[in-house]
Amino acid sequence: MRVQAVRGTRDILPHEVAAWQGMESSARELFSRYGYREIRTPLFEETELFARGIGKETDIVSKEMYTFADRDGGSLTLRPEATAGIVRAVIEHNLINTDAALKLYALGPMFRRERPQKGRYRQFHQVDVEAFGFASPAVDAEIVELALGYLDACGVKSHQLVLNSVGDRNCRPAYVELLRQALRGRAAQMCGDCQRRAETNPLRVLDCKVPQDQPVIESLPRITDHLCAPCREHFAEVCRQLELLGIAYRLEPRLVRGLDYYVRTTFEVTSDQLGAQSSVLGGGRYDGLVNDLGGPDLPGIGFAAGMERLSLLLPPCPPPPRCQVFLLPLVDAAHDRALLLQRDLRAAGVSAMLDPEGRSFKSRMKQADKLGARFVAILGQDELARGSWSVRDMARSAQEDVAEERVLSYLKEKTSHG
Ligand code: HAM
Repeated sequence: MRVQAVRGTRDILPHEVAAWQGMESSARELFSRYGYREIRTPLFEETELFARGIGKETDIVSKEMYTFADRDGGSLTLRPEATAGIVRAVIEHNLINTDAALKLYALGPMFRRERPQKGRYRQFHQVDVEAFGFASPAVDAEIVELALGYLDACGVKSHQLVLNSVGDRNCRPAYVELLRQALRGRAAQMCGDCQRRAETNPLRVLDCKVPQDQPVIESLPRITDHLCAPCREHFAEVCRQLELLGIAYRLEPRLVRGLDYYVRTTFEVTSDQLGAQSSVLGGGRYDGLVNDLGGPDLPGIGFAAGMERLSLLLPPCPPPPRCQVFLLPLVDAAHDRALLLQRDLRAAGVSAMLDPEGRSFKSRMKQADKLGARFVAILGQDELARGSWSVRDMARSAQEDVAEERVLSYLKEKTSHG
């Protein structure tokens, strides 16, 4: 039996890689313009970090983590998201003391044991952005602008921004109590998960996707009607600044997101082209998290985009040419000269390939075409006798005779013009 990729994981094949490199380079280029620097944290952490950071009652922590016992008895978990690990690193290395405007981004794989389907994997990749130390609503608006700017830089056209405020530690407890009361009596008609959450973490009921539960959920009190004055003012200012920036949004009072650390602003960007897994990115503010994980009382805000989902929304990306110059020695005596020219071209920054197999001229020309070669340098008996190469310009179907001692500089010069 052949060994196959683990369910829910996927290979990113060579023909897909250009699109992935595009998503990565757009991230690096755009985020650095906003003052963000890259951080790389480990793929696994102490289980405790995620349990405390994301929340024990969330689906991620209660059902989806890849947790394993280390040989010394400790419990480790493959990171299901990037935020908790970045917060740990910020605290551990005291980054806030060395950088007052701490703006970080990270790219890489995350792991969640969800049921695989289109756009949902067990190993998937996120582009993640986090800003620490900013309480101002201006930063909420900037983060949303950056998230949308990133989609734009990747070439994603149609999407919708949904926005909410989930209150803070002053006003949310009273709202959660209100929810708990509203759910008493009604939770019995809901799914098993909701019945449990109605008591343990009623906010999570709002996340439930089970169709039969929706009428009850629709009838529950809305968080935005129960914000304290500072949260209400903060949210109003975020909305005002988004309008100032010309960013369209839809308010969604049920948007509580699947992680417990959020306070105040939460947001998601969805696309109808993604089917059931419609959220391409999500984020929000997490002002108590750094403190909860043992650090100073530092506000934080960020978002993460799923790269697999993003890749489904990208415009088609033509494969880049595999080589600029294809070398074609036609006789054995030409072979060593071709090898040396190949080496010299590569050293000069020109991509070159040599077909050492003795196939027919026609099939090798076809191969040069398939590889996207801009020039084919031919060295046969006649060329050897003349001390030159025949250089064919594939785009113009023109051929030139170029002296051996000039061929390197000629090809270097021609390929540098694209
Ligand atoms: P999240 O909403 O759990 O937030 O994930 C962010 C994005 O990751 C989703 O919108 C989706 O595109 C992608 N994603 C999540 N799960 C999967 C999966 N199983 N397969 C494929 N893609 C997936 C977070 O992770 C937060 N840490 C975001 C954040 C950063 N909030 C503040 N800072």
